[in-house]
Amino acid sequence: MPSAGLKGSRFLLKVSVSDFSIKVEGCRRELKASQGKTLLETLLDEDFEIAHSCGGMGTCGTCRVVVTSEVDKLPPRNEVESEMAEDRGFHPSERLACQLEISSSLTIKVPGVFFGGSESTS
Ligand code: FES
Repeated sequence: MPSAGLKGSRFLLKVSVSDFSIKVEGCRRELKASQGKTLLETLLDEDFEIAHSCGGMGTCGTCRVVVTSEVDKLPPRNEVESEMAEDRGFHPSERLACQLEISSSLTIKVPGVFFGGSESTS
């Protein structure tokens, strides 16, 4: 019987791997995240409800989150996010979920979201 090995195969096996985890303070679930996706895409993919009035265009600010893990590991703000952060006086830990590309595991607070009677505030 011939070998079923992949050596010489023309086909690549694509495997979706979760690279990172997202913890939301006050929520027991740990969300899986892949590099290159935005935080908003990740939250929505995992059926986490978060406001995103402009659909991720970076113009409404409703997807604002507070990063409570290592802020210095976050990628720099892009031009769209930088403009809003300056206009609204964001603290360095405040980020737009729709503009923040995942590049490490994160812990976040989502202002105004309730989990079983306690609010994630900031
Ligand atoms: S969804 Fe509107 S700024 Fe992020």
